[in-house]
Amino acid sequence: MLGTTFVSFVLYTSFLFGLSQALHIQVRGRSSLSSNRVFRRESTSREIGGLTLDNTADVSYYAEILLGNQTFQVLIDTGSSDLWVAGEVSPSTDTGFNASIQYAANAVGGPVKEARLNLGGHIVEDQAFLQIPPDEANEEGTGILGLGPGSGSFIATQFGKIGGVTVLERIFQQNISAPPFMTILLGRTKDPTDFFTGSITVAEVLEEYHDILNVAKLNVTKVPDTLLDEQHHQILLDPDGIVGPDGKTIPFVTDVEGTENKKQATVVLDSGFTLPQVPRTVSDAIYSRFYGSEFVQIKGLGGVWIVPCEQEVNVTFSFAGKEYPIHPLDMTMHPSNVNLSDISTANGEMGCLGTFQPFTYDKGRTPSYDMVFGMAFMRNVYSLFNYGGYSGNTDEEGIGPYVQLLSITDRAEAHSDFVTARLGGIDTTGSRGLKKANNSGSGRTPMFLYIVAVVVVIAVLIAGAVLFVLRRRRRRRRLG
Ligand SMILES: *[C@@H]1O[C@H](CO)[C@@H](O)[C@H](O)[C@H]1NC(C)=O
Ligand SMILES: *[C@@H]1O[C@H](CO)[C@@H](O)[C@H](O)[C@H]1NC(C)=O
Ligand SMILES: *[C@@H]1O[C@H](CO)[C@@H](O)[C@H](O)[C@H]1NC(C)=O
Ligand SMILES: *[C@@H]1O[C@H](CO)[C@@H](O)[C@H](O)[C@H]1NC(C)=O
Ligand SMILES: *[C@@H]1O[C@H](CO)[C@@H](O)[C@H](O)[C@H]1NC(C)=O
Ligand SMILES: *[C@@H]1O[C@H](CO)[C@@H](O)[C@H](O)[C@H]1NC(C)=O
Ligand SMILES: *[C@@H]1O[C@H](CO)[C@@H](O)[C@H](O)[C@H]1NC(C)=O
Repeated sequence: MLGTTFVSFVLYTSFLFGLSQALHIQVRGRSSLSSNRVFRRESTSREIGGLTLDNTADVSYYAEILLGNQTFQVLIDTGSSDLWVAGEVSPSTDTGFNASIQYAANAVGGPVKEARLNLGGHIVEDQAFLQIPPDEANEEGTGILGLGPGSGSFIATQFGKIGGVTVLERIFQQNISAPPFMTILLGRTKDPTDFFTGSITVAEVLEEYHDILNVAKLNVTKVPDTLLDEQHHQILLDPDGIVGPDGKTIPFVTDVEGTENKKQATVVLDSGFTLPQVPRTVSDAIYSRFYGSEFVQIKGLGGVWIVPCEQEVNVTFSFAGKEYPIHPLDMTMHPSNVNLSDISTANGEMGCLGTFQPFTYDKGRTPSYDMVFGMAFMRNVYSLFNYGGYSGNTDEEGIGPYVQLLSITDRAEAHSDFVTARLGGIDTTGSRGLKKANNSGSGRTPMFLYIVAVVVVIAVLIAGAVLFVLRRRRRRRRLG
């Protein structure tokens, strides 16, 4: 069920456009963590500790794992919960079970096997995984590592809970004194000041972003017990928690039943989506106001806003009262990143894709979330996912599951990055302006105009009265 309504978008783009080739990364143990301390501003290193990720054009992030004796490049996907790889794994044990994993865009199936797994130094001797036959879509040596809650695992439900639980649950169960969390840091390819490609860690945090342990814990919102397989890493956005390019909040009402405050969006953090998915109204409010922007349908990608690449788009989200600015290099993306040819905007400029895309699939009649914050959002935070309290998991003093998000985007630095990367160093961002807003245009402006009219009338009356009084005084003086 999870996958049928919940496609990992990157599956769609990367496998459709054949981006999953040429991946060369090395397994890095946890030992590199402390020996590789670098400071973000002056960071020239591509490594930052943890298990280094390979970033393919900001479209997908791969980790290298060892399974049996083979290395596999697996996409890290917080939106699904199973491990599968394409190609033979040896040595491995066949469990005699077959299983399949259903994503919205495709499905994979094959025998459930067990082998020794090494994930950045964390070893599981007999990890269950799905082995699928390689083909053009799923190249030999690639796969997906699901990092979602265990209740969403297809292998666990089809093969049985005991041996089939997810990679992270196996790791957490092996050492119940270690905290049950995982962290993700995603790099940005065209960032002129930060050079790391990305990292994941299990049960520890990156030294450089240690502050994440001090930020607010955002409770994961639980789905009803009958829909446990649709449980994701989902949290509540603040009411009025989206500030658009004009500096005003973007209005929003949730579709998720049972949400106490209807102005709070339920947001799924999913590293398997290249493009965040948001309601059409939100995408329109973000991108429709720029000169030259246009909503188009693109084959293989769906409906998306095209915005001049030179247009700086500033958007800020807030969780638990804290602001999370989004880097303007993440708000729009060059079409070549997803292997599309150049696109012209309505006014003849080079066009970029608006990354916060209206939903390209149907969430169903009773959705358990309002938005999916994929890579374009996740590059702006160092994120920690705590698995305590998920069913079948070890529990950390009854707390959890929760998420912690440390903002790593500085507005001023991001602005200067944008000027360097997109404008050749010449800041023209102030000269573009915004079109008049549609909605507020019909609602607020007339009221505003009435008020102006009333004020003008009163001012004229007062001025008239003052003149009248003054003239009479003068007359009196003359008379006197
Ligand atoms: C493969 O792994 C097994 C045990 O896991 C080991 O005995 C063997 O030497 C390995 N083979 C190669 C070629 O590395
Ligand atoms: C698993 O799939 C293979 C290939 O389709 C088939 O030959 C085998 O009988 C299946 N095993 C089970 C237990 O269903
Ligand atoms: C278990 O985790 C604790 C806390 O992180 C750590 O000190 C200990 O070495 C771990 N034990 C094993 C066997 O890995
Ligand atoms: C989060 O969950 C904890 C424990 O379940 C609870 O005590 C706390 O009130 C929750 N916080 C919010 C903001 O709902
Ligand atoms: C883009 O897609 C085309 C057609 O699928 C393929 O031939 C080409 O190699 C791809 N280019 C890149 C850079 O992936
Ligand atoms: C975007 O935000 C930056 C930093 O606050 C600011 O300098 C810049 O002028 C803003 N750009 C636009 C187009 O609003
Ligand atoms: C804005 O208004 C125009 C004219 O009423 C309409 O054609 C257009 O679709 C509207 N755009 C949005 C984003 O609502």
